[in-house]
Amino acid sequence: MKHYLSVNDIDSLPMWVSEAITLKQNPTAYKDLGEQKTICLLFFSNSLRTRLSTQKAAMNLGMDVMVMNFGSEGWQLEFEDGVTMDQGKAEHIKEAAQVVSQYCDVVAIRAFAGLKDKEKDEAEVVLNGFKQHASIPVVNMESSVGHPLQALADAITVKENAITAKPKIVLSWAPHPRALPHAVPNSFIEMMKLQDAEFVITHPEGYELNPKITAGCTIEYDQAKAMENVDFVYAKNWSSYSNYGAILDTENNWMITQEKLGSAKFMHCLPVRRNVVVEDAVLDGSQSLVLEQANNRTFAAQIVLQKILESL
Ligand code: CP
Repeated sequence: MKHYLSVNDIDSLPMWVSEAITLKQNPTAYKDLGEQKTICLLFFSNSLRTRLSTQKAAMNLGMDVMVMNFGSEGWQLEFEDGVTMDQGKAEHIKEAAQVVSQYCDVVAIRAFAGLKDKEKDEAEVVLNGFKQHASIPVVNMESSVGHPLQALADAITVKENAITAKPKIVLSWAPHPRALPHAVPNSFIEMMKLQDAEFVITHPEGYELNPKITAGCTIEYDQAKAMENVDFVYAKNWSSYSNYGAILDTENNWMITQEKLGSAKFMHCLPVRRNVVVEDAVLDGSQSLVLEQANNRTFAAQIVLQKILESL
């Protein structure tokens, strides 16, 4: 595998999930694979889980790890071709990506959507800039439109906790005081298309996601109806896609409560705002899988890095 940029880079989801679950029994089984190899993690946006789990995964594989908060510590990058760089941006992606390629064997990038300009966000300038100009594999640690490492961890978590071959899984919009990007729900939806599941998306009207991503999915505007007989509830906030980046409804009647959850398992990628997105009773109860999801981030990243190292 050359790059891991989206869920569509997974050639066999059942195989990857099964390998990840096996790996959990002996996380350092492939410690020799990454010997003399270096991964560079470049953060243009904040992180807790992605940073530490990807680092842990690389260390389990015997890799050396370099981490840089590029957004706050690096030179401001120019991504456009042919511009006269006489303003604030000090370095062009062409040099930056090639320089990084000289220091490491794999580069992983996190760069969130700005949520101001849909066209610019969907162009994925940071991720695609590195893909175009780096000579090494590129891993997406959450870009403007996708978070495929999270989605793979979610698929592992579902597999470990499903009690039926085809569980009912509901992706539910939930309230949040700030405008959030679409990357997590986008990749979760793409993952659900690879999964044997009865999958339903529920959100208030106006929060429809990119129709190219939700094509073929069931969308139910009535949250209670969507959650009938559900096995897994995946809660996530996102801002409006059509009214790009806007918050349309800050009422908390979409918050996930224990009463709404019933006997279902609860999932969220974290970080989560307690008593806004989901009530304490759910997060503190035995049906919450959020810590398992966070733990599975290590094994999702490790499977991805393993596939990349095997192909170097
Ligand atoms: N879920 C997730 O990606 O967490 P971080 O933003 O903390 O990395």
